[in-house]
Amino acid sequence: MITDARALQPDFVPQELHHREGEIDALTTTLRPVADGFAGEDAFIFGPSGTGKTTIAHYVVDLLQQENLDTTTAYVNAMSNSTRADALYALARDAEVAYDIRKEGSHASRFLDRIGDIDGQFIAIVDEVHVLEDYSTLQALWEEPNVTLLLVCLDEEALFAEFDQQLQSRFGGARKVHLDRYTVAEMTAILQGRVNAGLRPGVIREEALEHIADLAAGDARAGIALLRSAVEQAVADGREEITQALVADVEVDARADMRAHRVRELDTDKRLLYEIVREAGELDAGTLHARYEDRAQDPVARSTRRKYLGRLSEYELVYSDGVGRGKHYRHG
Ligand SMILES: Nc1ncnc2c1ncn2[C@@H]1O[C@H](COP(=O)(O)OP(=O)(O)OP(=O)(O)O)[C@@H](O)[C@H]1O
Ligand SMILES: [Mg+2]
Repeated sequence: MITDARALQPDFVPQELHHREGEIDALTTTLRPVADGFAGEDAFIFGPSGTGKTTIAHYVVDLLQQENLDTTTAYVNAMSNSTRADALYALARDAEVAYDIRKEGSHASRFLDRIGDIDGQFIAIVDEVHVLEDYSTLQALWEEPNVTLLLVCLDEEALFAEFDQQLQSRFGGARKVHLDRYTVAEMTAILQGRVNAGLRPGVIREEALEHIADLAAGDARAGIALLRSAVEQAVADGREEITQALVADVEVDARADMRAHRVRELDTDKRLLYEIVREAGELDAGTLHARYEDRAQDPVARSTRRKYLGRLSEYELVYSDGVGRGKHYRHG
């Protein structure tokens, strides 16, 4: 059934990105000065989950790097690296300029110096920007003359509401690209691309593919997860064909897989907060904070924890009800 399992992986970067030509053009135009050796304009990609933000950011930056090999690029996901030191270290390491520095015990400014010392232009992709513990990380980066930022985030309004005046004026005029959820027809085309790249011809019926596209509700991450789960189930059952009924059977598992994937991305503090909620099933905010303080080696501030919990809710890893002292968190 499977000819290339990579095509079903969430991190697979397809050769062609369907339906995003305009957005890709807008971003490459904004960032192109970098490929000519000058600082580019900073840019943002906004859009709901699974609209291709991360994939497009990598795609655009790879394109520019092919145009000028003196351009250095690096990626950090704030879901996995929220603190200033973690985020800067992740960027320096991805840019391959931090091999000889130990992360533990080194000050964030050492990683920043390494980034500033890079010859030529440097494009930093900061994914899930709104999860950064502290937006001064962005300021530190833009103060380096060779750095251009490509920032990725779910929602423009929510992010700018958290920015102080300096950040708002710095980024107010930046190029902003908004991605919409895919239509059923677009999603079907994206899924067909994966099927063609990874499966033997004829194993999935058109109606099954459309059913996946429908269930995914515009989220390509969900669509691909559903396709992968259906394929795995078909292989396990020794079936030759993926039907609509099989897709319906695997939906719950596919959603659980997506959740597990997100949980694996979490760094120490977010994971601890998530685990405390998961273990309890449900608990009030006071108990959650007390348990966190008990278990965290190096506890982050309460306000930071509230921010992280807000992000976990946005991704539906935890759910919350109530406000202030009456606030409760649930796992499912
Ligand atoms: N236009 C497209 N053509 C082909 N594949 C796509 C396209 N858009 C997204 N995908 C695929 O869908 C999956 C989800 O995309 P991606 O991770 O970039 O979404 P995202 O917007 O960053 O989501 P999240 O906010 O959840 O991180 C990836 O596997 C990606 O390769
Ligand atoms: Mg993403």
